[in-house]
Amino acid sequence: MKKTMKAASLLLVLMLVTAMLAACNSSAGGSGSVSVGIVLPTKDEPRWVQDEQRFKDALKDSEYTTEILFSQGSSAKEKENVDTLINKGIDVLIITPQDGDAAAAAVEAAKKEGITVIAYDRLITNTEAVDYYVTFDSVAVGAAQGQYLIDNAQGTGVPLYLYVGAASDNNAFLFFEGAWSVLQPKIADGTFKIANSSEAEALKDTAELTRDQMSKILGQVTTNWDPNDAKNKAQTHLTAVGADLKGDVSVLAPNDGTARAIADVFASDGEVTSFLVTGQDAEKASIQYVIDGKQSMTVFKDVRTLVTDAMGIAVDILDGKTPVTTGSYDNGKKEVQAKQTNVIVVDEDNVQKELIDSDYYEASEFTGL
Ligand code: GAL
Repeated sequence: MKKTMKAASLLLVLMLVTAMLAACNSSAGGSGSVSVGIVLPTKDEPRWVQDEQRFKDALKDSEYTTEILFSQGSSAKEKENVDTLINKGIDVLIITPQDGDAAAAAVEAAKKEGITVIAYDRLITNTEAVDYYVTFDSVAVGAAQGQYLIDNAQGTGVPLYLYVGAASDNNAFLFFEGAWSVLQPKIADGTFKIANSSEAEALKDTAELTRDQMSKILGQVTTNWDPNDAKNKAQTHLTAVGADLKGDVSVLAPNDGTARAIADVFASDGEVTSFLVTGQDAEKASIQYVIDGKQSMTVFKDVRTLVTDAMGIAVDILDGKTPVTTGSYDNGKKEVQAKQTNVIVVDEDNVQKELIDSDYYEASEFTGL
């Protein structure tokens, strides 16, 4: 009898503990098995593989369950990924859209289930269904690229080749807006001469471009974020121009993947005597290019900070707290509460300090440092 009592109370305690654990779990993880779903655009670009790794590093000891899925450059796959995560019961979705407008359908489906949506690095546009945005200062990225060319080009009438990101990515506009804000006065005063965009040439006296005006320029010089597109465009441009648009030239390249492709084309043209070329993301291959003098600069965006900010917001939501934001971005439908991070310009002079001494990369990953 005594024994049965003991067993019964033990069972009761066990049941209580199980119930408490379940309650804990649901406050941390909602009703399903995954609390935070993460959707990144493509594994084909080192930038996003880097983000995946930084998420994994940050989540190693987390009590929250997360799952990371890649969309491989397809908005359809992205929607499928979001649906998969919704079915796993996520409470928070962290997503970098492949295409800012097209992602609306996916996040609207998430919103319907009461999921909090955090846009990660790229804004999701023209929908109410995005709650937060964690981002780098993208206008500052473009301005830093433009300013680097201004500070390092010599003389006047310097041929300037413009390249931009994908028009489906809101960031491509922000980067170009920043670059144009500093380059335009220097184009207008004759320091630079646009070599590859009649639309930009026609707008050279316009300091602030509308989205439509930018779209026209982007339409001519987009790389679609694809190194192959970038390479083909650069080849076409160099074939089209005369010797007056060669010699010592400047190239605005939007990110590292396209910068390396464009740099290789410019390096192999006998009539190009020297070129400055910008970049962005501090990809390892581009850091090696910077060390080797094959790419002039890159804009270092410390992904660790972006991951911390995104997960910070996610955990606040899971804990029932209100996340702290620092500003907002207009996505065409609403002002999205945002947390923004600064960027750092890296060239051969400070590569050691910013990327190695800061423990972002290891010296052994490069040669010639
Ligand atoms: C942008 C992003 C950049 C770059 C590019 C291509 O949205 O901010 O870091 O990598 O996409 O994926």
